[in-house]
Amino acid sequence: MAAAKIETAAEIAAHGAPPPAPVQTQSYRESRPQIVGPESPQPPFPIHLSGLVQRGFGRGGKDLGCPTANLPDESISPLSSVARTGVYYGYAQVIPPAGEDRPLLEDEVKVLPMVMSLGWNPFYHNERLTAEIHIMHAFKSDFYGFELRAVVLGYIRPELDYVSREALIADIETDKSVALNSLKRPDYQKFAVDSHFQLS
Ligand SMILES: Cc1cc2nc3c(=O)[nH]c(=O)nc-3n(C[C@H](O)[C@H](O)[C@H](O)COP(=O)(O)O)c2cc1C
Repeated sequence: MAAAKIETAAEIAAHGAPPPAPVQTQSYRESRPQIVGPESPQPPFPIHLSGLVQRGFGRGGKDLGCPTANLPDESISPLSSVARTGVYYGYAQVIPPAGEDRPLLEDEVKVLPMVMSLGWNPFYHNERLTAEIHIMHAFKSDFYGFELRAVVLGYIRPELDYVSREALIADIETDKSVALNSLKRPDYQKFAVDSHFQLS
C-alpha cells in the first residue's frame, strides 16, 4: 500500500486550517534525537527565502524568551509550497536597508544559525499560516522592516500543541541545540557562505 502523501503547508492553507496538532508527550520529549537529517542537505533543501521582517504578535520574545522575525506571506512560498508544517533549521542574515539610522552591530549582520517555525502555532491557535525565524544571537535591538535572508537546510520536527508554555519553551530549547549540532556537519557549514548572503 502506498504511503499517505504528506500535504505541504500551502496545500493545507488552500483548503482552510490544519487538522489539530498532536499534544507533546513526556515520552516524545525524552526521546528526541540530538541531531537530525542526512550528512548533507537533500532536496528540497537548500531553500532560499528573503523578505522584509514584519511584526508578529510579539509573543516569541515576551512569552517564550525566543524572539522571532516574521516573514511576509509572499516570501515564504519557496518553503511552504514544497514542505510540510513544522520546525526547520538553517542560516539567516539581517541586512539593514541603505540609509537606515537604526544601526546593527558588526556581530548582528553576520550569517547566523537559525531555527524556524512554519505553520499555525497550535499552542496559540493562529488563524493563518506563518513563518517565524529565531536567529541564534542576542540582538541588542529589533530589526522590523530590515531585510531577512535565510537558507533552510533541514526539517527538525512537526508542530505540536502543548499542555503548558514551559513545555513549548523546553522543546524550542531542544530545537536550538539540535539545529546547532546538525549545522556542525561540513556539508551544512558550507551554506554559511552561500551566495544568497551578503558576505564582506
Ligand atoms: C524553533 C521554534 C519552534 C516552535 N514550535 C512550535 C510548536 O511546536 N507549536 C507551536 O504552537 N508554536 C511553535 N513555535 C511558534 C511560537 O509559538 C511562535 O514563534 C510564537 O508564538 C511567536 O509568534 P509571534 O511572534 O507571532 O508572537 C515555535 C517557534 C520556534 C522559533
